[in-house]
Amino acid sequence: MKNLIVYAHPNPKSFNHAIMETLAGELKAAGHEVRVRDLYEQNFDPVLKPSDFELIQAGKSAADVKVEQDHIAWADVISFVHPIWWTGLPAIFKGYIDRVFSSGFAFTINETGVVGLLNGKKALIINTTGTPEEMYNKNGMFNGMLKTSDDGIYRFCAMEVLKHVFFTAVPYITGAERAKMLEEVKAVAKMIC
Ligand SMILES: Cc1cc2nc3c(=O)[nH]c(=O)nc-3n(C[C@H](O)[C@H](O)[C@H](O)COP(=O)(O)O)c2cc1C
Repeated sequence: MKNLIVYAHPNPKSFNHAIMETLAGELKAAGHEVRVRDLYEQNFDPVLKPSDFELIQAGKSAADVKVEQDHIAWADVISFVHPIWWTGLPAIFKGYIDRVFSSGFAFTINETGVVGLLNGKKALIINTTGTPEEMYNKNGMFNGMLKTSDDGIYRFCAMEVLKHVFFTAVPYITGAERAKMLEEVKAVAKMIC
């Protein structure tokens, strides 16, 4: 299977980087094709500009956006790996969605309403939090984040959400606990393909 990993974290020594590498390694070891888009390393420009709107209206995309759209078009399974910042997406990742998941590419609107155009593509979302699991369960924050990302972005574009994993309290746990989480990433990799 063709696997695309869209990854956003500024620190190559971060736990998110370890998640991305573990996932890519496991998928490759199982014989799958893997491409990684590292948004910080690429210096991806997350700002949706007037010129982007003009291009969308003309049925086109900016050159950097087209590169990312071609990767999405290529993939069967797309994994999105990033930390939770301010209870949502890091700005660079949000800007990737703003620009790459554009009208005419990821969705369109016709007389029946919104039609997702990424049908047939499967999504895996892996996020990390600083907040402990009990707190976000108790205050409903997980439900909010699942709603705005899985429903608001991926299912809106007709993708099938295979799994959304939250690894919680990451800065405060032991190395052994983090190692256990990476084992879970390996199990998820086996599950998605
Ligand atoms: C700008 C910023 C905003 C953050 N906002 C949240 C938040 O809203 N909720 C949360 O649980 N953790 C938040 N955190 C903590 C990170 O999610 C946490 O440190 C990260 O997921 C740990 O993974 P890492 O070691 O790969 O960075 C924030 C961190 C930063 C830098």
